[in-house]
Order: sequence, then C-alpha cells, then structure tokens
Amino acid sequence: MAKITFITSDNETIVLEGTIGSVMALAVEHNVKGIDGDCGGVCSCATCHVHVKPEDMVKTGRASEIEADMLELDDNADEYSRLCCQLEISDDIDGVELTVAK
Ligand code: FES
Repeated sequence: MAKITFITSDNETIVLEGTIGSVMALAVEHNVKGIDGDCGGVCSCATCHVHVKPEDMVKTGRASEIEADMLELDDNADEYSRLCCQLEISDDIDGVELTVAK
C-alpha cells in the first residue's frame, strides 16, 4: 500500500492510496487532472509526466533511459521528471509527492 499525493496545475492536492499497478493507472482511475495515460502505459506518449518532489527522488529513482528519451521531447522536463506509468505502486514509494507537469 502506498499513499501518493498529486498536485495538479490548478494547485489542487489529491491524495490517493493504491496497492498494485502503476501510478498512472491510479491517477487515471481517479481522474487526476493532467494525467491522461494516452498510450496505456507503454512509455510512448508522455501524457503521464510528473515532477517528483526532489527529496522523494530517493524513493522513485530517476527516469530510465527509455523514459528519458521520451522526456527529452517535452520542454517542461527536468531532472525530477518521471513518466508515472513507469512507477509501480509499492511500499517503496509510500508518501511521495508528484506535481503534474504542464
Ligand atoms: S502513459 Fe504514455 S508514457 Fe506514460
């Protein structure tokens, strides 16, 4: 079980709990604004782009090479960017805060 906080572009704070699956799927299921998951989670659309709170990067890890290639196409990407379809829900990421990318 992991508690995950999303901050949307409207500055809305949404706290969700999940047990399995990807963070993207959890967000889409709960209609988190700005997380669309257009490609279904295969790392090829970047409509699940989030910025991880810097101190939470230790929990999420950094983007993989394939993710980084996708993020390179997004002008809003930074060193804290992740595609949340690539983040699996587990105890390891409990408590992370993710800001939905513009
Ligand atoms: S859902 Fe498409 S890259 Fe994450």
